[in-house]
Amino acid sequence: QDTRALQVAVVGTGYVGLGTAIMLAYLGHHVVGLDVDENKVAMLRRGQLPIYEPHLDQLMLDSGDRLRWTTSYAEAIPDADVIFICVGTPPLPSGQPNLSYVADAAQSIAGHLNGKLQVVVNKSTVPIGTGDWVARMLEEHAPDYHEGRYLVVSNPEFLREGTAMHDSLYPDRIVLGSDSPVGIAQLVRLYEPLLDQSFEAPGYVPRPAGYTRPELVTTSLSSAEMIKYAANAFLALKISFANEIAGLCEWVDADIAEVTRGIGHDQRIGPRFLEAGAGWGGSCFGKDTSALISIGREYGYDMPILAAAVEINRRQRQLVITKLQQHLHRLKGKRVAVLGMAFKPNTDDLRDSPAHDCIARLGELGVQVVAHDPIAMPRAREEWRHLRYHEAASAEAALHGADAAIIMTEWNEYRQLDWAGALRRMRNPLVIDTRRVITAALPVGTVEQIGKRAPGVLV
Ligand code: UGA
Repeated sequence: QDTRALQVAVVGTGYVGLGTAIMLAYLGHHVVGLDVDENKVAMLRRGQLPIYEPHLDQLMLDSGDRLRWTTSYAEAIPDADVIFICVGTPPLPSGQPNLSYVADAAQSIAGHLNGKLQVVVNKSTVPIGTGDWVARMLEEHAPDYHEGRYLVVSNPEFLREGTAMHDSLYPDRIVLGSDSPVGIAQLVRLYEPLLDQSFEAPGYVPRPAGYTRPELVTTSLSSAEMIKYAANAFLALKISFANEIAGLCEWVDADIAEVTRGIGHDQRIGPRFLEAGAGWGGSCFGKDTSALISIGREYGYDMPILAAAVEINRRQRQLVITKLQQHLHRLKGKRVAVLGMAFKPNTDDLRDSPAHDCIARLGELGVQVVAHDPIAMPRAREEWRHLRYHEAASAEAALHGADAAIIMTEWNEYRQLDWAGALRRMRNPLVIDTRRVITAALPVGTVEQIGKRAPGVLV
């Protein structure tokens, strides 16, 4: 028995909860993952994952019996040294996050606390001040509450879907926000293996070249909560900035990929999250920028930079359609292949995917849409029932006989496609490549990319 190992409960088995539970079990802790959804828990008990995420299945196997799943707070909470709240905070129509799942989790946790030292950790993305609110809820609902025993720490998550395990095992920094040194010390103990410079995850999650141990950033509870929002807002801003410059590049005959490479080598700017394209999507950037703007509004405080980032992202989605119209003029009755439905590669997550808006708009314009995604098609069949499109069995099948193609997600499979052959089999060889998937000059057809002047027919 490893004396450093802790008992951990993780409430919520979405992307963040699953990743946290499986990663901590892999590190040697004893973890119970809890979800109120019985179907999900039944699946997990059978060793199946409710989401697609690279390496999660393998790490789950490698964690062996250190990992259990339950629907019962009575089973998960009393023995836990550390309890993570990882439930969803989906946006309300007002843009503010819905905190009802956090409130339910906190109240249920409170009812089963054991009266000894237990640390409750907020990993869900929550408005500034929520940590204190959770602490008060524990105080009100714990049967045997004593001042200072139930410590709340904010430990925001920075993992990206599609590379979740890599990001969790090799983080740039670990942020711990609490006004209690005891709470922080317990979490430092939990993450100790990751803080060791010589830490190596299994070979299938390779250590990045030049990786150095994560920076430990300890802050107040509120600062940690703000860090999560500010990080996502800044990343969204970087992408919107690249998209705004990309638009001007097209007018002045510059290429945004060359421009961002040129500015990215300045260490003050950095090369990442400057890829122009169809704009950002996913469950976080849109939700978190709107939340921050709406928190500002509560104080009568405008956030014009963030509002502009959101507006540019909206405009970017429309740009895809505009580019198509510029080439084909009337779209009605045309057949358009949409390649990629997930909001980014290596995930089947469709939330706020730019491809959704693209397919919806094409449908409104009377276009016959043939869509393909290597992983997300089954999920789209459930979640995108309101959209009109045909499924293609392969990217080649989608392109066959099409009047145009739009690449919305940069799946590797699309990079490796025989584009010269595929373009020959299109009725009209036009590709709107929003993600710079096609890198070679092609002997036939037109490849139009964001942030680069339309090339016209290449040969
Ligand atoms: C994002 C953050 O990157 C994570 O750090 C954070 O933990 C997570 O949100 C969260 O809050 O849970 P995620 O939404 O999984 O992660 O995906 P990203 O890789 O950030 O991509 C978001 C969107 O931006 C995608 O649609 C992607 O295509 C787009 N993007 C990204 C660009 O258009 N250009 C870029 O240069 C980078």
